[in-house]
Formats: sequence, structure tokens, C-alpha cells
Amino acid sequence: MATSLEVRGVSLRFGGVRALTDVSFAIREGELFSIIGPNGAGKTSIVNCISGRYKPTEGQLFYQGRDITGLTPNARASLGIGRTFQNLALFHHMSVLDNIMVGRHHLLKNNFLTGSLYWLTGARKEELEHRRKVEEIIDFLDLQSVRKATAGTLSYGLRKRVELARAMALEPRLILLDEPMAGMNFEEKEDMARYIVDLNEEFGMTVVMIEHDMGVVMDISHRVMVLDFGKKIAEGDPGTVLADPHVRRAYLGEEDEVLVDPDDASPAQESAA
Ligand SMILES: Nc1ncnc2c1ncn2[C@@H]1O[C@H](COP(=O)(O)OP(=O)(O)OP(=O)(O)O)[C@@H](O)[C@H]1O
Ligand SMILES: [Mg+2]
Repeated sequence: MATSLEVRGVSLRFGGVRALTDVSFAIREGELFSIIGPNGAGKTSIVNCISGRYKPTEGQLFYQGRDITGLTPNARASLGIGRTFQNLALFHHMSVLDNIMVGRHHLLKNNFLTGSLYWLTGARKEELEHRRKVEEIIDFLDLQSVRKATAGTLSYGLRKRVELARAMALEPRLILLDEPMAGMNFEEKEDMARYIVDLNEEFGMTVVMIEHDMGVVMDISHRVMVLDFGKKIAEGDPGTVLADPHVRRAYLGEEDEVLVDPDDASPAQESAA
């Protein structure tokens, strides 16, 4: 399978803070690849390096074999790299439909949001075509009933789904999802997990997902990478990663061995031994 994305030796510093240290990995076309790790491990930072929001202090990024390290976020979006944000970034006063439409703005030749020659330049015809694409996504994500609603009035779970719709509207080949299920209840998570699997399998999008819910990560990921203090500590199929002692220690908070001073050992610990 062809490589979608290669991250080569990426480090990122903010003053004295080392957000990422020498992180390397590769993602294959069609893969559903998850990034996990404790708070502050560098997960959002690596996604920001991929989307172009952050420029790595060191290292390089390749997308479909092409060095994208120096490209702007817009240029990367045009190459087919889409994303959602950890903290919702919707236009709250706009309708669901218009929020999703915004996701296509880099595909618009005539910018209908600012174009004053709307009726003269063929912008209207172009807009109708875009609307058709947007309707497809609305159908796929079951957003029909709220398509005209103002985004800010929707439940949190629905807003996260609208944000996914907007990212999909760019028709990305590679989609970066930063905690798509954060703050959701069990049912909303189940729905979101299904949409992510479907957009991977049916739309053929390569997925990079940051997610804290280990159950979902282990269920739907093809491969998982673990970051801890800005460093990659493990990578592999979900089962292998979950069983990795480094991961259990760093991420799941398990101790390798219980260090107990023999003099302090309580009767309970003795009987358990
Ligand atoms: N723009 C920034 N300016 C300064 N420091 C930053 C910036 N972005 C991230 N950092 C720092 O880099 C480190 C990694 O942060 P990052 O947001 O990538 O972690 P994360 O794994 O996404 O955490 P969380 O699970 O809480 O979202 C943290 O120490 C953070 O404070
Ligand atoms: Mg984050």
C-alpha cells in the first residue's frame, strides 16, 4: 500500500518547552491511524505540524511523496489534507449548511462569500454544484433535520458532527481528527465512531485520529502510535500497543512492579503477595 504521510524526525519547541522530540512515523493510504497519549504529550502539536499550523523546529513532512514542510495550511488543504479542531471552530451564527459550505471555500473558483459578481460570473452555477456535494455529506452524516439550524443552537454532539461535515466538505484524501468524540455521551460516541469507520471505508479517506477513549481507539484503529512527553514510545496494531509495558506505565498509569518498603508493608499487602 502506498504511503500517504511520512513524518521524519520532527521536533517542535516553544521557547523552553519541547512539545515534540524527533518524532517519526508513516501512514499508509487508506489507514485509520490513531494517536494517543497523556495530556500535553504533543498529540495536537503533531497534527498541527501535519496541517501546517505549526512549523517544526526540525524535521520534514512528506505527503504522497512530496515534501510539504514549507507549505502553508491552505496549500496543504488544496493537496487534500483536511482537519477538525480539538475545540470546536464553527461559525455559531451561521446555518449548518453554510458552515459545511465554508469547508469547500478553497475549492471555490468564485468565492461566493465575498464575490460581488455573483450573478454575472457563473458563481451561481458553481455554488449549486457545491451545494450538491454538501448535500451528499449532509446525507452521509444524517444532518438533514438540522441543515437549516443555526450551528450555535445545536447540542455539543451535533456540533462535533457538523465540524466533521465541514472537514469532509474539503474532500480530503487525508483527514486529521483531533478528539472527535471528546465530551460526548456513549451513544454519540458510538455514532461518531461509525461515521469515522464509514468515511475511512466508504469514502476511502485516510484517517489520523487523536482520541482519549481507549475503547474506541482499540476498536476501530488499524494502527496506534503513543506519544509521551513529546516522544514516540510505541507504534503498532492496537493489541500490541495495549500490551506494551511502556505504554501501560506511561499512559494507563500502571506500575511495572509495586515498590513497597518491606518495613512499611501493611498486613493487607502481605496477604495479597
Ligand atoms: N502554541 C503553543 N505555545 C506554547 N506551548 C505550546 C503551544 N502548543 C502546545 N504547547 C505545549 O506543547 C506541549 C504539547 O501540547 P499539545 O497540545 O500538543 O498536547 P496534547 O497531547 O494535544 O494534549 P491534550 O491531550 O491535553 O490535548 C504542551 O506542553 C503544551 O503546553
Ligand atoms: Mg490536544
